[in-house]
Amino acid sequence: MIELSPSLLSANFANLKDDIHMLEKAGVNWLHLDVMDGMFVPNITFGPVVIKDIRKISNMFFDVHLMIEDPARYVDAFKKAGADMYTVHYEACRHLHRTIQKIKDSGMKAGVSINPHTPVEHLKYIINDLDLVLIMSVNPGFGGQKFIEKTYDKVQELRALIDSTGASAVIEVDGGVNHTNAGKLVELGADVLVAGSAVFGAESPAESAVTFMEIMNESFASRRG
Ligand code: DX5
Ligand code: ZN
Repeated sequence: MIELSPSLLSANFANLKDDIHMLEKAGVNWLHLDVMDGMFVPNITFGPVVIKDIRKISNMFFDVHLMIEDPARYVDAFKKAGADMYTVHYEACRHLHRTIQKIKDSGMKAGVSINPHTPVEHLKYIINDLDLVLIMSVNPGFGGQKFIEKTYDKVQELRALIDSTGASAVIEVDGGVNHTNAGKLVELGADVLVAGSAVFGAESPAESAVTFMEIMNESFASRRG
């Protein structure tokens, strides 16, 4: 599978319904929802209340990225609100293994995100428990930042770790992703790309999303040989 997960963070929040339906019409399956608490990251966004309401108007796969301290506290609230994937930060969990089990027990898929400074090898003993690993290619907190080039190495390392352990986690990359770096990321092993400003900042977000999906599918085909 290969998916584009547009980040709602760069959308106009007074116009969410139309924006979401526009993405669905363009053939996008995933929606990336950035939850921030003003503690783990400097910024504050939205929580389960907002997700519950947009769940009513969309059947997309809700890919929820928790940039909050101790995210185990909110597993049940986000499950109830309609989240499909619950991705926590490695750096925000003291008992990550337990948190992952809690997410899975709730019925959601479990993801772990690593900040730019966190090595891929820290995931060695939990990789087989994960549905997704999110590699941050900017420091979390804001849309529209510049892509960190070291990310390419991390995608390759993670691809090797997953392939060598027989794990089934998909690789997602988030931050500064655009039409220029998307192809290389997929070729090196990424399965899901998050894009905020490169979709919602475009003159036509729908056209930008379609272009992303074309680039990604082409690179995926060449990765498969
Ligand atoms: C950043 C968020 C991202 C953000 C990406 O902390 O996790 O999902 O919305 O935005 P762009 O694609 O503009 O870098
Ligand atoms: Zn995100």
